[in-house]
Amino acid sequence: LNYLTPKSRKEILELLVNGLKRLEYRGYDSAGVAVDRVNVKDMALIKKTGKVKLLEDEIKQRCGELDVEAMSDNHCGIAHTRWATHGVPSEVNSHPQRSDEGHAFVVVHNGIITNYKEVKTFLQKKGYYFESETDTEVIAKLIHHFYTQHSQYSFRELVEQVVQQLEGAFALCFKSIHFPGECVATRRGSPLLVGIKTKSHLATDHIPILYGKEHRPHGRGDVPVLPRSESTSEFQPLEDKSVEYFFASDASAIIEHTNRVIYFEDDDVAAVKNGALSIHRLRRSMDDPHAREITTVKMELQQIMKGNYDYFMQKEIFEQPESVINTMRGRVNFENQTVTLGGIKDYIPEIKRCRRLMLIGCGTSYHSAIATRQLLEELTELPVMVELASDFLDRTTPVFRDDVCFFISQSGETADTLMALRYCKQRGALIVGITNTVGSSICRESHCGVHINAGPEIGVASTKAYTSQFISLVMFALVMSEDRISLRQRRAEIVEGLQKLDEQIRAVLKLDSKVQELAKDLYQQKSLLIMGRGYNFATCLEGALKVKELTYMHSEGIMAGELKHGPLALVDHTMPVLMIVMRDPVYTKCMNALQQVTAREGRPIIICEEGDNETTNFASKVLEVPRTVDCLQGILTVIPMQLLSFHIAVLRGCNVDCPRNLAKSVTVE
Ligand code: G6P
Repeated sequence: LNYLTPKSRKEILELLVNGLKRLEYRGYDSAGVAVDRVNVKDMALIKKTGKVKLLEDEIKQRCGELDVEAMSDNHCGIAHTRWATHGVPSEVNSHPQRSDEGHAFVVVHNGIITNYKEVKTFLQKKGYYFESETDTEVIAKLIHHFYTQHSQYSFRELVEQVVQQLEGAFALCFKSIHFPGECVATRRGSPLLVGIKTKSHLATDHIPILYGKEHRPHGRGDVPVLPRSESTSEFQPLEDKSVEYFFASDASAIIEHTNRVIYFEDDDVAAVKNGALSIHRLRRSMDDPHAREITTVKMELQQIMKGNYDYFMQKEIFEQPESVINTMRGRVNFENQTVTLGGIKDYIPEIKRCRRLMLIGCGTSYHSAIATRQLLEELTELPVMVELASDFLDRTTPVFRDDVCFFISQSGETADTLMALRYCKQRGALIVGITNTVGSSICRESHCGVHINAGPEIGVASTKAYTSQFISLVMFALVMSEDRISLRQRRAEIVEGLQKLDEQIRAVLKLDSKVQELAKDLYQQKSLLIMGRGYNFATCLEGALKVKELTYMHSEGIMAGELKHGPLALVDHTMPVLMIVMRDPVYTKCMNALQQVTAREGRPIIICEEGDNETTNFASKVLEVPRTVDCLQGILTVIPMQLLSFHIAVLRGCNVDCPRNLAKSVTVE
């Protein structure tokens, strides 16, 4: 929002597009902007599929129509780059989403609205027509609905009404032709900040919060109109006509303009009107503060993009407490222990009647299938085949109409996996896609699927996508066993395990400095053997893959049961060995393997459960992780391996985010 000096529309558009370019590193598949036309009762919406550059080109082409030389002060524009979660990447699905063809209200959204279907049904009954497949469109329509009912409401009050009806995660920015030059932004679960740029020194270092006085809780399903919130009178601490405000989900978008920012908290509603910023909250709880502080961001642009981390991979490892929640959001109901996977719901009866399940993928995605195979066998009682896509095709494996084939792929574009998908589809099997990329080839060509919602992964070596694929497959196993009374107890312990997972991942991440020390012992070695069995065998394979791809050091994941059939010959006092030994049904067998190693003078590093003193007696070094239910333990044991490979790579001077010879998405066979 510009209140500083008059700017041409060209400058405003450039500013918005440059902000989007700064956010491109988060992943994108489309972008859009909304700016006022000369008459502020009209708005231009420009959207484009693909990179921000294409949006920029489109704006240049339309500069005549947009009247780019026209000057305006008191201006508000919004822009967005999208990483699809609902609906394929397309212009109509890009943001800003609009309330109607007249663009009465437009909104940009970062996050997921989990109850959008209910809100959509409500609005459809009121006569609203939906043009996109996005969850976000309901927000634009809902605010329009409230406006038509209560035109006396302020813009901010309308937004307050809207967000009370939304479930899920969001950071939102609204613009309206009914409120020219104003902007309202709010968040719940997704980050949001405002940058403040003034000509003169800022007279204040905080903005008071204005609290609503009384509020009535709302019901779910239907969308009632709520009583108007009774916020205290508007306080305008920054009534300064020479100011620019920048709402953004990430400081990187705005840092070239200002380093003075306020980070919002969940349920803050921020409004900018006539050069004044005010912050509102409907409810006040005991420890709520009186004000939000204006802080100075000291980081460089590069640093902000990596969110205080030195590498994207490192950032992605540390994002896992949030990414696992995003995978489960709106799907796992922890109270009544049910799981709903909207993308395959209608196919569950057919899947239950199938002859076998086949899980197919490459690299890390393949390992997520290995990790969950045992649970799928247990909860579905179906035969489960796990296949490397390339080998599956080499063998021209028999596939039948009553097979259900899962294609697991972070990118959704891996050629081997896609070929295997087409092969199975031709033979009449049901195709289920498990991807992180809506609108990808695997998504489009599947009959149904699960989007893992891990957020864009930039580091070539996959980390958070693995744990989210893992959880997606666990959720599928839970869906398949929902009506099995004999499994009720087992399902309950898994759901409880899922609920605690984010906290436990946080605990594992605290091992970081210990893992770094371990990396110092290992980084000059030539080889690392990683052994385990049962639920943790996948961690051995995935851990070894991480070590190989990131550090260029030889590493092998060894099934502990196979040790005596060959790999034991490699073991002596010089060979670095890491073993995963959990107190699960294969504990005794793992201990046998451990003793075989120690008998050959091996002193392995052990990953085990917290407080397991007996096992640690045999170890040279120990990494203790919290205990969870056996079938989820692999999520907690793989994280130390991600950290270890990362630290070894840094010590060896390897390019962590782009290992040599590898690509994030391999689109050739
Ligand atoms: C490439 C990457 C791996 C990844 C594999 C499968 O080889 O380097 O990290 O696991 O592709 O990718 P996908 O996108 O299908 O999960």
